[in-house]
Amino acid sequence: MIHYRNVSKIYSGDVLALKNVDLEIERGEFVSIVGQSGTGKSTLLKLLILEEIPTTGQVIFNNRDLASLRSHEIPLHRRRIGVIFQDFKLLNKRTIFENVSFALEVAGRPGNEIRRNVSQILEIVGLSEKFSKYPNQLSGGEQQRVAIARALINHPEVLVADEPTGNLDMINTWEIIELLLRINKLGTTVLLATHNKDTVDRIAKRVIAIDKGNVIRDQKEGKYMI
Ligand SMILES: Nc1ncnc2c1ncn2[C@@H]1O[C@H](COP(=O)(O)OP(=O)(O)OP(=O)(O)O)[C@@H](O)[C@H]1O
Ligand SMILES: [Mg+2]
Repeated sequence: MIHYRNVSKIYSGDVLALKNVDLEIERGEFVSIVGQSGTGKSTLLKLLILEEIPTTGQVIFNNRDLASLRSHEIPLHRRRIGVIFQDFKLLNKRTIFENVSFALEVAGRPGNEIRRNVSQILEIVGLSEKFSKYPNQLSGGEQQRVAIARALINHPEVLVADEPTGNLDMINTWEIIELLLRINKLGTTVLLATHNKDTVDRIAKRVIAIDKGNVIRDQKEGKYMI
């Protein structure tokens, strides 16, 4: 489904962020990407969502080289991939319902369809009761669940999570990871970049370790270990 083919990324100033990365990720996988700060984890994810382009090599998604996408195809590609970050990036002046429905509103979907979809997704993330609250009325863990709901609203094929638990305590962290595992079970491919050793070990699924832009380990049911 996702194929990094001999991908290198050099940022301006000669910063080598990724070096000859070859990776294949199948539909339905749950993959943790680990490695020290500045080793290229976020860069790997940014290439998939077209926030960055490779310096050399190709990123292939569903048999299409992302470099070959025409500009009108890029929004469609981005809708296929939901993204969550360490900071939740919620709209603070909008309710939970509005935060989650925003993309559908912008796309001009009919009101009843929006309400149906948002209720369904809020149910999945366990926030049905909170739809009329504002982000600052929610705990950190709940805010991250809103961000997950928002990322799921277009029924993406992949959920990309870049250090999603970096701002959370242990209990909230594990709740978010359990939610990601549940979403994965429902069929969404999940890519999780994290520093959190305990969670990666507990997830016990594929682990890709990156060091200074190189993939140094790729294990099924792996452990954190860097
Ligand atoms: N836009 C940019 N311009 C120049 N250098 C960059 C840019 N983005 C990232 N880098 C550099 O590329 C390298 C990889 O960065 P990246 O953000 O992918 O690391 P990371 O593994 O996600 O780190 P962290 O765990 O701290 O999030 C680092 O040396 C970083 O400083
Ligand atoms: Mg990062």
